[in-house]
Amino acid sequence: PVIRREDYQPPAWLVPETGLDFTLGIDAAGITSKLKVVRNPEGSGEAVLRLNGDQIAPLAVRVDGAAVNDWRLDGSDLLIDLPGAEHIVEVETQVNPAANSQLMGLYASNGMLCTQCEAEGFRRITFFPDRPDVLSVYSVRMTGDKAQFPILLANGNCTAQGENADGTHWAEWHDPWPKPSYLFALVAGDLVANHATFTTMSGREVDLNIWVRPGDEDRTQHAMDSLIASMKWDEEAFGREYDLDLFNIVAVSDFNMGAMENKGLNVFNTRYVLADPETATDGDYDAVEGVIGHEYFHNWSGNRITCRDWFQLSLKEGFTVLRDQLFSAAMGSEAVKRIEDVRVLRSAQFPEDSGPLAHPIRPDSYQEISNFYTATVYNKGAEVIRMMRTMAGPMQFRKGTDLYFDRHDGEAATCEDFIRSMEEGAGLDLTQFRLWYSQAGTPQVAVTLKHEGTTATLHLSQTVPATPGQPDKQPVPVPLRIGLFNRDNKEHTGEQLIVLTKASDTFVFEEFDHPPVLSINRGFSAPVSIEFDRPVEDLVFLAAHDDDPFARYEAMQSLVVQHLVAAVSGALDEAARAEGRAAIGEAFAAIVTDSALEDLMRGELMILPAESYLAEQMLIADPGAIHAEREALKAWLGREYAQILGALHDRAVAVLYSRDAAARGARKIKSQALGYIAVGNNAEGARRAIAQYRAADNMTDRQGAMLVLASLDVPERAEALADFHSRYEGNALVIDKWFSLQAGSFHPGVLANIRALAEHPDFTMTNPNRVRALYMAAAVNPKAFHDESGEGYRLIGDLIRRLDPINPQTAARFVPSLGRWRRIEPVRAAMMREELQKIAAEPSLSRDVREQVTKSLG
Ligand code: ARG
Ligand code: ZN
Repeated sequence: PVIRREDYQPPAWLVPETGLDFTLGIDAAGITSKLKVVRNPEGSGEAVLRLNGDQIAPLAVRVDGAAVNDWRLDGSDLLIDLPGAEHIVEVETQVNPAANSQLMGLYASNGMLCTQCEAEGFRRITFFPDRPDVLSVYSVRMTGDKAQFPILLANGNCTAQGENADGTHWAEWHDPWPKPSYLFALVAGDLVANHATFTTMSGREVDLNIWVRPGDEDRTQHAMDSLIASMKWDEEAFGREYDLDLFNIVAVSDFNMGAMENKGLNVFNTRYVLADPETATDGDYDAVEGVIGHEYFHNWSGNRITCRDWFQLSLKEGFTVLRDQLFSAAMGSEAVKRIEDVRVLRSAQFPEDSGPLAHPIRPDSYQEISNFYTATVYNKGAEVIRMMRTMAGPMQFRKGTDLYFDRHDGEAATCEDFIRSMEEGAGLDLTQFRLWYSQAGTPQVAVTLKHEGTTATLHLSQTVPATPGQPDKQPVPVPLRIGLFNRDNKEHTGEQLIVLTKASDTFVFEEFDHPPVLSINRGFSAPVSIEFDRPVEDLVFLAAHDDDPFARYEAMQSLVVQHLVAAVSGALDEAARAEGRAAIGEAFAAIVTDSALEDLMRGELMILPAESYLAEQMLIADPGAIHAEREALKAWLGREYAQILGALHDRAVAVLYSRDAAARGARKIKSQALGYIAVGNNAEGARRAIAQYRAADNMTDRQGAMLVLASLDVPERAEALADFHSRYEGNALVIDKWFSLQAGSFHPGVLANIRALAEHPDFTMTNPNRVRALYMAAAVNPKAFHDESGEGYRLIGDLIRRLDPINPQTAARFVPSLGRWRRIEPVRAAMMREELQKIAAEPSLSRDVREQVTKSLG
């Protein structure tokens, strides 16, 4: 069952109004829907109404008030013949929220009821044309036990509520904005709110509530501050104002993804709401801010303008990720945010783009849409729109987004609609640029720079690699911000934007008496990989002097990548190895000691490239060799620079806790320095880590110390882990960390430890956060996952098979790690493939896992 983009047909019937009546119960909930359906003048004219369903049965069907019996099922869809052009259709269904372990549709979490409908969960509640281009105005009524469900929430505004004599109560909600079914939400449970108000730019008073379980309310202020900041920022940066009098956010602990932008009632994974210094790291605070912003920004890029079909998913997700990135950059350090975003892109999206699951940001086909909530659709999607912004400039870009919001408000739009608004509003010609939407694969740009007389000649050529189903590619426009540095005064002649549109091209620069140093793809202006073979001293120069912070980071990364790739390929003799290390050491020491650098940036620059990114640089990777070489370099840096790293750690330890940038920077370099020190000298690392752990008055320091201890084979390790567990017993989000930091460790016994943790009383397969805490940490831990025994692959293979019947969507997320087998050395590759084959042999796989495994075996 492959769904294709080119097969899109407008809906035959529209549903201008939807009434839903819920009788709430944890293990039985009754739903009566009342749909006003009208024939779509733009539709096929079909007389049959198709209502999608999934694992539900129609208990009663009425048309225009009269019971009908001649309905039929086509698979799980309900078909009803309708003679006229307009009817009222009523359907009764019943579901068991407590038994809903997939967490799609209406489900129970910690005694409360909540919904997740994107992408196709609504059809697990009631029969409906469950597609994003059918927009309806919803009125919802719900009745439930007052003691069990004191709070009753749905989209929009509460219009009436009351009590019944039997101990139940009811509420009616109305959402005036037409929306697709995937934005429907309902929540019922024992909840308390952090309440605030926000006045919009046109003077609308909005009530804001963040709903959590009693006891969690003290950890909601950062989320509330982030929400208010998001609302303000979207007014200023994009001219977007909130459009209801009420905005509710609910935190739930069982959730497949991060959060969901349901109109007026966002539902969040607790991990993106709850934060206080004792239990959340600085990274967690940033994630809360980013996701709160992301979901809020969807109110315009997603809700007011939604997607015509799911192939257009990047229309809302790519754009909204860009918006949340710009927001977080504005709230903190733009440079650090950019580096973090690029690191995510390279570690999550580049491997996707070069593997068996590669797809364009606007896919052409899918079997299960849940599998397309990917780093490609989200993060590469954001990069593609960011390139438009780079080419147009921020002012013109804003004109483009203004036109888009204005022109398509209230519509279910397409990526093409967005592109056209950008062409007309921002004044760009995006004819060739559209290829970024249709072609998968990360473009490779080869660079050479020649100098003769006073002329510098830059030669660029590009190839877009073949991907599954796309053997031949065309060149794409690649906007590159560049600078040419004078080696003597360490300045460049002014940044320029050049756009490579052809397969290869030459750019000439005059008046250079000496060969300049090229800084290219500054700010990561294009999501490409740059191949530029250049002298080590140029990279050392840029790592020390580039005024573009991203380019400076990039130079440092390239220096390390070049060295480690050569080392892993066995291309380095002792002398060359020493020479390479010395160059890296020189740049590293400069970063550690540069007093002009802010610590947040210093911490960023100190991070070595990830093993997955190093593997990505090689056609066939040997994960064992990569791990050994990277650890060896880290140990060498730790020993060679023990003194300055110790001094850096000491300085950071002396900084008192606060949430300001300087103190956050201090905590960042504290963990970085500790990491190097510990790999270089285990005993000294353990001593410092224990001291840091004991003195910690915040989770960043405590977790930073634990991360280091968890990888060390020292007696203090077990004691600290036990202390951490007992200190946070009952705090699910922190116990998640306890699982993750062990599963992610480089401890020699890591695999046995993971198997043991799976038997721990705190472990459960029914909570996605807990499953990810243990197994995703293991799957991205190169030492555990790629252990030469193959045990890591078996661990993940077993997990997928056991999780699939419980929660297919989350199970499918683990398949891509095994799907990398073609790029791994043959012995490991065979074992990875074997795991995929074992999964494929399961008799009743979900559509989610089936699609990923089939494609991965290729
Ligand atoms: N639209 C949500 C977001 O990006 C993601 C929801 C996806 N959920 C799912 N079950 N596939 O904010
Ligand atoms: Zn989103």
